Amino acid sequence: MNAANIGVVGLAVMGSNLARNLASREGNTVAVYNRSREKTDLLVAEHPEAGFIPAFSYEEFAASLSKPRTAIIMVKAGRGTDAVIDELVKVFEPGDIIVDGGNAYFPDTIRREKAVRETGINFVGAGISGGEEGALNGPSIMPGGSDESWVTLGPILKSIAAVAEGEPCVTHIGHNGAGHFVKMVHNGIEYADMQLIAEAYDLIRRGTGKTPSEIADVFEEWNKGELESYLIEITAEVLRQNDAETGKPLVDVILDQAGAKGTGAWTVQTALSLGTPVSGIAEATFARSLSSHPEQRAVAATLPGPDEEFSVADADAFIEDVRQALFASKIIAYSQGFDEIRAGAAEYDWTIDLGAVSKIWRAGCIIRAQFLNRIADAYDEQADLPVLATSTYFAEALTRGQAAWRRVVVAATQAGIPSPAFSSSLAYYDGLRAERLPAALVQGQRDFFGAHTYKRIDKEGTFHTLWSGDRSEIEAVDTH
Ligand SMILES: NC(=O)c1ccc[n+]([C@@H]2O[C@H](COP(=O)([O-])OP(=O)(O)OC[C@H]3O[C@@H](n4cnc5c(N)ncnc54)[C@H](OP(=O)(O)O)[C@@H]3O)[C@@H](O)[C@H]2O)c1
Repeated sequence: MNAANIGVVGLAVMGSNLARNLASREGNTVAVYNRSREKTDLLVAEHPEAGFIPAFSYEEFAASLSKPRTAIIMVKAGRGTDAVIDELVKVFEPGDIIVDGGNAYFPDTIRREKAVRETGINFVGAGISGGEEGALNGPSIMPGGSDESWVTLGPILKSIAAVAEGEPCVTHIGHNGAGHFVKMVHNGIEYADMQLIAEAYDLIRRGTGKTPSEIADVFEEWNKGELESYLIEITAEVLRQNDAETGKPLVDVILDQAGAKGTGAWTVQTALSLGTPVSGIAEATFARSLSSHPEQRAVAATLPGPDEEFSVADADAFIEDVRQALFASKIIAYSQGFDEIRAGAAEYDWTIDLGAVSKIWRAGCIIRAQFLNRIADAYDEQADLPVLATSTYFAEALTRGQAAWRRVVVAATQAGIPSPAFSSSLAYYDGLRAERLPAALVQGQRDFFGAHTYKRIDKEGTFHTLWSGDRSEIEAVDTH
């Protein structure tokens, strides 16, 4: 039997939805396999219309696929992925394609791609965003892997991806781990975006006394303008929701400890090793960590805050300031995220089209937004743009919004309301645009205690000062 053009291994929520999505598209016949038989039986029984070809062993699965065999793994990331790859390699042949659609850490994808390539089989790490709903109706897909595998895989992935303005939200990101790298940064940006929205909500609530449902109206209004995005839209819905049991706003009943599955931390760890300051993403990740230490928060609750109650005189003006601060901070968060992709591409030798990345995020994924068209425009204008925030559109927006942004950060600081993502984004902005930074003093300190040397503004070379003894007798030594 050689009937299926694509197979899915792993039929939990993501795998079964992706398999259904694939089966619903013209031209696809889908083979399905799961380690334990029950999920396969259930999927096939519940969806006869899909015409799945069920397999109950890896041999049967391989036999049901036409060549080059193409299989998407959707299992628990980590050891589960390695276990499935080991089995598929035994039954696949050179030229076949194994796709990992799970949330793998990109260095694992680089390692797996290298090992699988040695067998002649192609391995593609593909980031898939959009959760269960996206998997079923159209996700944003970020595949890495070889050019050869893209020839077969491209049309299949295009058939199931979300569509934005007529274009499928999938592009070949780059070789080996590039797809999972970009998916990781996508998730990091998502952390920053969510934290910024949460800070905006907190400031408005504590500054104006508006109820969650009144603030939902504010977000609904914002969703009609430059902030229009899925995250703003769902924020309005979350704020409008009342708890069925108590009748209170649901947001007041939910425990204020944010969870995380680790992709934010990966983005920050990777940025640290690349030397790329993604302070918005880092603060968002740390804000979740801080919230999740109730034992520390309980003892620290006795520490003092400002004496005066926080209340703004003009609620509408304050809300407009917060809107502008949110937009400015968001520009910085995305600029930092794209900077990390640029640095990752340089480090790992990937050719990544940053404009194409922004376009495939316009639909299907969590950070989908109109805003991404502006990013695509910026890279269209200048493909090698060193800082996204300096492109014409974003520089103008920052110029318009910076006064409001500063007022909001000052107000938050004086009121004792934590706004780590708003304020760190502003600090990054000011650091980036500064003519001169106190890094000169840091270099002096480093040279003092560690003879780490420094460079001068007025001549070439590397210098070290002899700091001991009479400090007026400093001596500059060109160590070249
Ligand atoms: N859930 C989401 O919203 C979401 C969004 C984006 C990406 N993802 C990623 O998509 C992947 C699948 O997610 P999920 O939530 O559908 O499933 P999951 O809960 O992460 O994993 C369960 C699936 O993995 C299989 N599995 C685990 N260990 C295995 C092993 N050693 N060998 C073979 N199969 C093994 C299970 O098979 P059994 O039935 O036999 O136990 C089951 O099919 C994950 O990598 C996840 O991170 C999830």
